[in-house]
Amino acid sequence: VTLKEWIDQASAALAGAGVEPARLEAEVLAAHALGVPRVALITQGFTPVPELALSSLLERRLAGEPLAYILGRKEFYGREFMVNASVLIPRPETECLVEAVKSRIRVGSLCADIGTGSGAIAISLALGAPGSRWIAADISRPALRIARLNADRLGAHIGLLHGDCLEFLRPNSLDLIISNPPYISPGDPRLSPEVKRWEPELALYAESGMAFIERLATGAPRLLRDGGILALEFGEGQERAVTELLPGCMIGADLSGKYRFAVWTQ
Ligand SMILES: C[S@@+](CC[C@H](N)C(=O)[O-])C[C@H]1O[C@@H](n2cnc3c(N)ncnc32)[C@H](O)[C@@H]1O
Repeated sequence: VTLKEWIDQASAALAGAGVEPARLEAEVLAAHALGVPRVALITQGFTPVPELALSSLLERRLAGEPLAYILGRKEFYGREFMVNASVLIPRPETECLVEAVKSRIRVGSLCADIGTGSGAIAISLALGAPGSRWIAADISRPALRIARLNADRLGAHIGLLHGDCLEFLRPNSLDLIISNPPYISPGDPRLSPEVKRWEPELALYAESGMAFIERLATGAPRLLRDGGILALEFGEGQERAVTELLPGCMIGADLSGKYRFAVWTQ
């Protein structure tokens, strides 16, 4: 088949499976398989394509695997991060958290990203706030390997720490603790089947949704210097519980206007 025919067929199949925007995704898959930027497809409509390679990508997408895992990458805060099934796919709402704290990080600040996953938060802020120093912690070693890969590729100097939540961090040493923690209650019916099936359990679930956030809120004051900041993302509907744990915190919204993160100053 030609490229155009394949894209037409693939977009019909994707649309039939409820994947939207179907045509765009078909084009992205084709460009990935051919190893060219998507815009290069314009001139190649009548070129014959390696149908087998293309079909195996399409089948993965039709089975519900997220596009980012198939491509092995996801854009976050203007940069491309490598991802695989051992890390959460970085989300746009987390970019709002990053944006909210960036201007508050000073040269020389010591900062920790707890549950770093792909390294999206620590790397974006290490590069966005030059002169800040970073520790990126995770309990998952496979995730830390991806964070290392991303830090090296993007030229960010961050130290990686294998630990459980705030473990191994020194008292009164940090200017910023930031986290997009696991905050979904096991069994939450709002979780999409795609996320549930493909993204790592460790990245998603916390007892009652709030257990990890509670550990951050109770542990952070001891680790933060005077004037230090705890910034964390939370799930839809958790703002009241978070405000109770962190009295006086500022609550921020994502681009759709939903309350999704808190910034608390010591
Ligand atoms: C929601 S993901 C966030 C990933 C990344 N920071 C982001 O925003 O895209 C939560 C991360 O916390 C990590 N995690 C889960 N339990 C942890 C624990 N007890 N201590 C440290 N990290 C943990 C998971 O492995 C996962 O990488």
